[in-house]
Amino acid sequence: MIRIGLIGLGFMGRTHLQNYIRLEREGVPVQVVALCDMNPLAMEAGSFGEGNIDTGAEVIDFSGYARYTSYEDMIRQEQLDMVDITLPTYLHEEVSVHALRAGLHVLCEKPMAMNVEECEGMAEAADASGKQLMIGQCLRFWPAYEYLKELVQAGTYGAATSGVFTRLSDTPTWGAWLTQGDKSGGAMLDMHVHDTDMIQWLFGKPSQVSSVARNVVPGSGYDIVSTHYKYEDGKVINGQADWTMGGDFGFEMGYRVNFERGNVVFQGNQVKVNPHGEPAFYAELSEDNGYYRQLKYFVESLLADKQTDKATPLSTLESIQIVQAEIASADQNGAWVPVK
Ligand SMILES: NC(=O)c1ccc[n+]([C@@H]2O[C@H](COP(=O)([O-])OP(=O)(O)OC[C@H]3O[C@@H](n4cnc5c(N)ncnc54)[C@H](O)[C@@H]3O)[C@@H](O)[C@H]2O)c1
Repeated sequence: MIRIGLIGLGFMGRTHLQNYIRLEREGVPVQVVALCDMNPLAMEAGSFGEGNIDTGAEVIDFSGYARYTSYEDMIRQEQLDMVDITLPTYLHEEVSVHALRAGLHVLCEKPMAMNVEECEGMAEAADASGKQLMIGQCLRFWPAYEYLKELVQAGTYGAATSGVFTRLSDTPTWGAWLTQGDKSGGAMLDMHVHDTDMIQWLFGKPSQVSSVARNVVPGSGYDIVSTHYKYEDGKVINGQADWTMGGDFGFEMGYRVNFERGNVVFQGNQVKVNPHGEPAFYAELSEDNGYYRQLKYFVESLLADKQTDKATPLSTLESIQIVQAEIASADQNGAWVPVK
């Protein structure tokens, strides 16, 4: 049995909790035993709060959980195997390191941390503790993106020649920290990191990046981003994010990747494959979302005593390195910046 403490009961914390409840219901030997949020109201019955992706909101009964407003108290007083950290990004390093040093496995939401130094501290703490640390780069578990990864890896339609990855939404309003650049990193880190991480997972680290970006919401950092990623084989890769859409737009993510012998487009909830010289078709994908699949993967790895090899600290740290190069490039009006 894996005993879980969940820290941070905002949009993502409630989404994770709902998925653990589903896993429990499905007979996976996991149990959320304790919750922690500095705001006690966040751990009271009520419907889901606001967020950018429809996660299938349902009313949760919180009465069966031990509830804490301090994560140190929770970790000291409860018998836990792991914590799941769904706190604002500026707290990821502090709380992950504390939990790892206390001998707990850690699943921490993306982005791994605010900068590479903090990520290194987390990776070192995981090594020193011998416990597992996985980062919630959930697109690596998202069926539409897993499908693309398979095409790239298998070379089904030859090598990729170009790709565009997009992520668009309204400005998040459910947590004040999200539009404070020193706490969230703005859309560039908070939102665009999903696509940076995906591009890195699919194609490896680019040698250089060129980002054009702009600030719109005072104090939030870069809210609109367009980055070109340079690869030695010349493929043309672009990632775009904008969290200032407003109006009735809502949220949208997608990709279009062209290969030597076909192309593939993720739009809405469908992945359309257009092979050269053959009829187009829609990919058959699992209906489970990446949140559920990543939590299942992590707890099942712990249950089987297996080292996780997806969204590892070192690979997600590399995505933060790339985002830092993107910020440096945007600071220089799009100059090409090497990725260290
Ligand atoms: N994987 C995804 O698709 C995805 C989507 C949204 C958010 N996220 C990430 O999840 C994390 C949380 O984002 P969110 O949208 O849920 O934020 P949120 O503001 O909705 O929730 C954060 C919660 O943490 C609590 N909190 C803040 N400081 C605390 C402290 N010191 N101790 C205990 N509780 C504290 C707040 O009261 C709040 O309830 C962020 O890192 C964000 O980037 C990931």
